[in-house]
Amino acid sequence: NSKSPTHPVVASIDIGTTSTRVILFSEDGREIAKRQIEYSTSASEGPAESSNTEQFRRRSSLMRHNEPIYTAEGIAISITDEIEIENNLSSVGPTLRFPQPGWVECMPVHILANAVQCLVACLITLRKINSDPDLKIKYKLKAIGIANMRETTIVWSRKTGKPLSRGITWTDTRTAEIVEHLEKITDDEKKKELREKTGLPLSTYFSAAKLRWLLDNDDVIKEEYEKGDGNLMFGTVDTWLIYHLTREKTFVSDITNASRTYFMNLETKDYDEELLEFWGIDPTKIRLPKIVSSSEFYGGFSAPILSNLGFHNKITQEAYDILKTISGVPICGCLGDQSASLVGQMAFKSGSAKCTYGTGCFLLYNTGSTKLISEHGTLTTVGFWFPTLKGEESKPHYALEGSIAVAGSIVQWLRDNLKLIENAHDIGPLASQVDNSGGVVFVPAFSGLYAPYWDRGARGSLFGMTQYTSAGHIARAALEGVCFQVRAILRAMADDAGGSPDFLEEAGGNQNSILSQLAVDGGMSKADEVLQIQADILGPCVAVKRAAISECTALGAAIAAGLAFENPEDRVWKDLDDVIEKIQGNTDNTFKAELPDLERRKLWKRWERAVERSKGWLD
Ligand code: G3P
Repeated sequence: NSKSPTHPVVASIDIGTTSTRVILFSEDGREIAKRQIEYSTSASEGPAESSNTEQFRRRSSLMRHNEPIYTAEGIAISITDEIEIENNLSSVGPTLRFPQPGWVECMPVHILANAVQCLVACLITLRKINSDPDLKIKYKLKAIGIANMRETTIVWSRKTGKPLSRGITWTDTRTAEIVEHLEKITDDEKKKELREKTGLPLSTYFSAAKLRWLLDNDDVIKEEYEKGDGNLMFGTVDTWLIYHLTREKTFVSDITNASRTYFMNLETKDYDEELLEFWGIDPTKIRLPKIVSSSEFYGGFSAPILSNLGFHNKITQEAYDILKTISGVPICGCLGDQSASLVGQMAFKSGSAKCTYGTGCFLLYNTGSTKLISEHGTLTTVGFWFPTLKGEESKPHYALEGSIAVAGSIVQWLRDNLKLIENAHDIGPLASQVDNSGGVVFVPAFSGLYAPYWDRGARGSLFGMTQYTSAGHIARAALEGVCFQVRAILRAMADDAGGSPDFLEEAGGNQNSILSQLAVDGGMSKADEVLQIQADILGPCVAVKRAAISECTALGAAIAAGLAFENPEDRVWKDLDDVIEKIQGNTDNTFKAELPDLERRKLWKRWERAVERSKGWLD
């Protein structure tokens, strides 16, 4: 046994909006261990989730996500080890909360605790593999990477490390008035200037408006800000996590996350005085994290003492002992989750694109080191920045992004609020009970409409129902509502990238095409029905290809961490070519349009009409 070769694994902590997972990846991209906690999205604020249904839902989702994994020798290992942390969420309440219409809050300490316990579970699996005399392979944790939901805003105290309020999640629309006011008092020239600096439109989506709201409305935060004694800390989820996983040593934000705050200048890669002033933020009164690349040494791992942060659920000594075994392991990769899946899909080259159907849906189109500013409603964002690599690869890579606020969350809503399905994966079969939506159009604008429409006053709308309408029609219309927005985004991107928005109409040999294949991943993309609907809605010009590795987001953060070492010999992957060579997955999961052109055009027109009607509902 002592002669067994030791192979590196990279731990990836992936904090989504509605779930947390940790995966240990081997250098060929296999999942060696995995643990996921899915949050409930029940609409109420409380009481704490104590119902049996909720307990069952959590347990069953854990079981579903912990299927056996296979070692290099093909030996199946069960990774359903019982976790050594007593995580009875019934005593601390849900991680995600919806206290008022349009408000979406998260509990920063829960997020941290969930990440820690997923990590412990994976380390238990690792220990089990390494001590199994039958296995001829051993693994060693080499690095830790983080992928996280972006824009979500957390403010905490430097003295205590504790959050001073709940986190305001990216979909939260409470800042509508702040944004509206700024829009009114800002002339077009200034708006254009802001857009060129940040790559972003004025919207409730980004962190700046959320921080402004906290400074104006939260008494504790307001008071701390006025005192200005350096106690107040601002961060997105990456910053919060890295701060606590290095025991408060490292206060940084990776560039892909920082580019979503509306405080960062895309050109200088740093905070911009004018942008801070625009939002009325005085950086001497609130600490802002240092902006760093996506792949460098941020700090060594050190387990946070959760009880010091007010998390009083029992965490066993054994769990802390396990975490101690990885003390000092470098945390050295970090990307906002959508940038992470661009990397995980290996869309490294300019002109490649990916679309992730998570809680929301995000299409990123890599534009290389060129920073294209959209004129048609898409965003400019940082794709990744791997400075340890050579030449072009070492430069920040930009992407055009089309963000859709509601995708997987519409499925959760159909499950939790309307009770149309029992499990999320029942959505495909329900939608395929019918051949079409029966004339129903569902615009799932729960947080307004994002790209390319940007209408914060829009709200979810259902059109075209009759007595004939069934649950199947509504489910299908909900899925179509997401897929139509993907089409709208591709049209806008084509316009921005020098193609023609009508490229989707012309099959074969299209001069204006910006893309012939859309690489997809994320929870919803597991359903064949969703991808067939997407292919039908895009038409024959663009095929839809599901990634061979389903956890692209987590994989992307692992890749960033594995590349972070200065000396190529120390890296898990030497460069991007090595990543592509080592992590291969074959898939034949390509979906092509089957819907007749005429029908597609009819549906598209109906969708556009429905969007117009759902706009401005709150005005
Ligand atoms: O911009 C929000 C995005 O980062 C959230 O991602 O995975 O929770 O849909 P997800």
